[in-house]
Amino acid sequence: MSGIVNKEDLVKYGYLKIDIDKDFDVIEGINRLRKEKNAVILAHYYQQGEIQDIADFVGDSLALAQQAVKTSADIILFSGVHFMAETAKILNPSKKVILPDLKAGCSLADSCDPVDFKKFREKYPDHTVISYVNTTAEIKAMTDIICTSSNARQIVESLPENTKIIFAPDRNLGNYISSQTGKNMVIWDGACHVHEEFSLERILELKAKNPDAKIIAHPECEKPILIIADHIGSTSSLLKYTQTDDSKKYIVATESGILHQMKKVSPEKEFIAAPPKDSTCACSDCNFMKLNTLSKIYNALYFELPEIIMEEEIRAKAEKPIRRMLEISDKLGL
Ligand code: 13P
Ligand code: SF4
Repeated sequence: MSGIVNKEDLVKYGYLKIDIDKDFDVIEGINRLRKEKNAVILAHYYQQGEIQDIADFVGDSLALAQQAVKTSADIILFSGVHFMAETAKILNPSKKVILPDLKAGCSLADSCDPVDFKKFREKYPDHTVISYVNTTAEIKAMTDIICTSSNARQIVESLPENTKIIFAPDRNLGNYISSQTGKNMVIWDGACHVHEEFSLERILELKAKNPDAKIIAHPECEKPILIIADHIGSTSSLLKYTQTDDSKKYIVATESGILHQMKKVSPEKEFIAAPPKDSTCACSDCNFMKLNTLSKIYNALYFELPEIIMEEEIRAKAEKPIRRMLEISDKLGL
């Protein structure tokens, strides 16, 4: 995390935890502050349902980046994880971008260390680097084009046929895109702890008990899960599929927060969270995403902290590949 802006060192490294009286109406407080301060609340589909319900905009990582470019708010409160808020800051250097809990990181972004990635990239000097948005600003600064799971295939296909490509950091998404495009890419060996945890065996047991259910999966899942899936896509693609498809039941292999939106838009349908390998943990929850709470959002708006800050040199370098992604997505109507 690049730097800490005070409030007694974000309450001495607990990254700002100030208890709110239980009788206090947090939602009313958030509504008052966002109006007074001209703040917008952007939330990812993996956030707790009550956060999704009060957000000004809920979406997948591509839609949230696009929204961050459009906003006229002075403050962007990003209820998601650090790389998402950082992307919003890279695109809006003059705005204040705040994240309710600075500890909301991402195991996938952490699986790609900038020092190691620099060495890796140097081994393939004639390759174009495509990085997933789930990366730090330092990795983005070493990238030619960013992608998300909503546009990764189109970004790869937008390059001339003979382009050599490094794809980072998610090996499952990289392999999936390679199989879709027929492109042989050099793929960084990273993964997400949530999507790698789904159990093929337990999903198949669930399917046997619910033969009418369709299996839908995020491309960060391992290959065996993708092979049995009826539909593979980003969070917004999975959501759209459940709205347009005529099944009544779905086994959902991605972070459980998306079920809130699925139930909201299709209340007559049934959604079952795909089970993880370890039956004793709630592993289909991203523990980073779930760090954000309504109280932390209130505090963040009140103190305008924790704020995302970064060196201008890194920001400017990281902006180019994000803008390239946004231009390509725009042209393709994504
Ligand atoms: P989306 O791009 O589908 O929103 O996914 C982001 C993410 O963090 C997946 O784990
Ligand atoms: Fe990162 Fe995985 Fe959480 Fe998505 S679900 S934010 S990839 S750790």
